[in-house]
Amino acid sequence: MLSTQITSNINKACSLLEQGQVVAIPTETVYGLAANALDVKAVIKIFEAKNRPFFDPLIVHLKHASELDKYAINIPSQAYALSKAFWPGPLTLVLQRSALIPDMVTSGLDTVALRVPAHPLAHQILSLLSFPLAAPSANPFGYISPTTAQHVLAQLQGHIPLIVDGGPCTVGVESTIVQCTHEGTTVLRLGGTSVESIEAIVGKVKVNITSSSNPQAPGMLTTHYAPRKPMLIGNIDDLMAEHSSKKIAVLAFQKTYNVPQSRVLSAKGELNEAAQNLFSMMRELD
Ligand code: TXA
Ligand code: MG
Repeated sequence: MLSTQITSNINKACSLLEQGQVVAIPTETVYGLAANALDVKAVIKIFEAKNRPFFDPLIVHLKHASELDKYAINIPSQAYALSKAFWPGPLTLVLQRSALIPDMVTSGLDTVALRVPAHPLAHQILSLLSFPLAAPSANPFGYISPTTAQHVLAQLQGHIPLIVDGGPCTVGVESTIVQCTHEGTTVLRLGGTSVESIEAIVGKVKVNITSSSNPQAPGMLTTHYAPRKPMLIGNIDDLMAEHSSKKIAVLAFQKTYNVPQSRVLSAKGELNEAAQNLFSMMRELD
């Protein structure tokens, strides 16, 4: 067992990353489990720490949009337009990969997922390094993504040497994933950048959010965001009536429910605030 430290000292994080180690880092969306994307041995350690199947590819985090041409090829103009509009920020672009990206990162796909994170500490770490960072969300495979350093510690203690504490994530849900080809633009995962704002830049897009246990493209497994307890989604009053004999907790968008354990995502009914609270409240109730 490793002893896991929490720090806000990015120099320590950088030296571990340079040595091919895995470090949890804050991003504006969720905490990521980062390693040198160009070092296969380092990337394997991410899969091991998360217990993630090798068929689920990783997002590569870049310091700046100007690196797009280094890690992707044959880039459609829509991708440049989206990177200009939303980077740094919660948008991931899936593009044809360049030869620099190892198979281990893309699970053998000929595409790579790229994004420039907006969190100041993530940006500082990337700026100090000579390589990009492969980073999935820093949760054990299948569990809720972490939005604080404490969430990461609670689940990966003993499995990673260091967690960089950058405070609670301001977006709170993952990046939106968009695949750009010369045939068109397709949203593969909904997230911190709205489809409407993407369409404002590139016009109408396809939305293809498929859940499958063999994620050929978006890798959205059915249990991707699952807490340990069963979680039912639907009309809360109906669900409460149906499950009145059970011990339940309620997570509501705006309305307050009179049960011993409940949380309201946004009393003001604001989507961004609700997104920021979603994973941390799921975790509290779990
Ligand atoms: O906000 C985020 O995107 C966070 C932070 C840490 O950046 N990262 C994140 O990574 O959510 P992860 O690994 O939990 O989710 C990445 C998703 C997976 O569903 C994976 O299948 C998909 O991106 N993905 C990665 N490469 C892909 C590719 N080449 N084509 C299609 N989907 C891809
Ligand atoms: Mg994830």
